[in-house]
Amino acid sequence: MMHHSTSAARRQFLKFLAASPYVATLGGVASFLQRSAFAQHAPEIADVIADPAAALSVFDFEEAAHRKVQAGHWAYMASGVDDDATLRANREGFKHVQLRPRRLRDATKVDMRVDLFGTVYNSPIFLCPTGGEKSFHPDGELAVARAARARGTLQFLSTATSTGVEDVNKALGRPVWYQLYAPSSWDACQQLLRRVEAAGCSVIALTVDNTTGRNSETYLRTRPRDLHQCTACHKGAQPGPTIDERRMYDGINMTGVSSSNPAMDWAFVDRLRKFWKGRFIIKGMDTREDARLCVEHGIDGILVSNHGGRSTETGRGTIEALPEVVAEVGGRIPVFLDGGVRRGTDVFKALALGAKGVGIGRPFLWGLGAFGQSGVDRVLEILQGELKLVMGNCGTQSVADITRAYVATPDWRV
Ligand SMILES: Cc1cc2nc3c(=O)[nH]c(=O)nc-3n(C[C@H](O)[C@H](O)[C@H](O)COP(=O)(O)O)c2cc1C
Repeated sequence: MMHHSTSAARRQFLKFLAASPYVATLGGVASFLQRSAFAQHAPEIADVIADPAAALSVFDFEEAAHRKVQAGHWAYMASGVDDDATLRANREGFKHVQLRPRRLRDATKVDMRVDLFGTVYNSPIFLCPTGGEKSFHPDGELAVARAARARGTLQFLSTATSTGVEDVNKALGRPVWYQLYAPSSWDACQQLLRRVEAAGCSVIALTVDNTTGRNSETYLRTRPRDLHQCTACHKGAQPGPTIDERRMYDGINMTGVSSSNPAMDWAFVDRLRKFWKGRFIIKGMDTREDARLCVEHGIDGILVSNHGGRSTETGRGTIEALPEVVAEVGGRIPVFLDGGVRRGTDVFKALALGAKGVGIGRPFLWGLGAFGQSGVDRVLEILQGELKLVMGNCGTQSVADITRAYVATPDWRV
């Protein structure tokens, strides 16, 4: 039974529908209602894209991927920690940064290219390291690499990759930036890095924000109850992957060694700094104090990140942490950012606040899960297209033009 006011509102709505030329072309009110209001799922299904070209924003890939990716893997990817507050804060943060566009500058000359450690990329948007990309699509890291190659995009590769670094570099046509989870044994760490160096990589990013394990509560709540299905792909009683599924540990004796080292400290960083001759970034630094230490310890770059809200429930969006890191570093080393980036305007805001490159995690995993390589490709196309639009409309012809003057942050107390 309908409540009176609802039924009045419904009558009004029907009257409105009857007058609508749009509804008329669809065959009148009755048929329109059949399609929408009375069919429980039809409109929902119609909204899910069936091919990458139909996507209007990166969000269009989310539900498309949700329907294809194995439920446990989906829960793992989508979740944050504790109450998922940091996951949300990463998105929310961007809403508190406003644009200050400058008008009447030639918008036909927008150039998004950036030079990062001596390699030129088509845009400052990069693909974050995410473990086990085959769990979202059988082509995994290779699909990601092929899309990155086609779009001239920087790709980070996780230590927890499901494909060896050599094969990924081949598919990418240039070396990835290698994300390091430092094993608890120095010997194992050296072996990993020798392999990475031999594969041609010259940039590593040591992840430091997730060494103690985490409270992935939403994952535990939303993954399937029956974990028997997991044993078809994973060994052992645990639902997650084991070291044997992780190609980067092949040939390394990992007995009694944990894949990340909770005892890591600045002395460890110094040891690694001495050992690794290439560029050395630290991923997961979010304060001016640590930014200063990075510079003092000879680090080549900082990636401001909270692991996509998946490590500690800090409650602080990365875009809010960025300015203090940038100010402390004072241009001596490049600062990068990831976390909650979903729009070209988000990228623009991070660049304006001093980032040299801006990373995406989940959006490309949605593209991958939904369509493999062509999904990742379209996600990059959309974001690069959105960035080009905002650059043109804000009067910035190059990435270097995008300065602090292009944003206002009235809610922030600085
Ligand atoms: C499924 C998944 C796996 C991830 N695996 C890693 C990893 O192996 N190493 C790492 O440093 N960061 C990892 N991250 C964090 C990302 O590199 C990145 O910081 C984060 O996804 C950015 O936030 P966004 O997903 O909101 O774009 C992972 C993130 C997700 C969603």
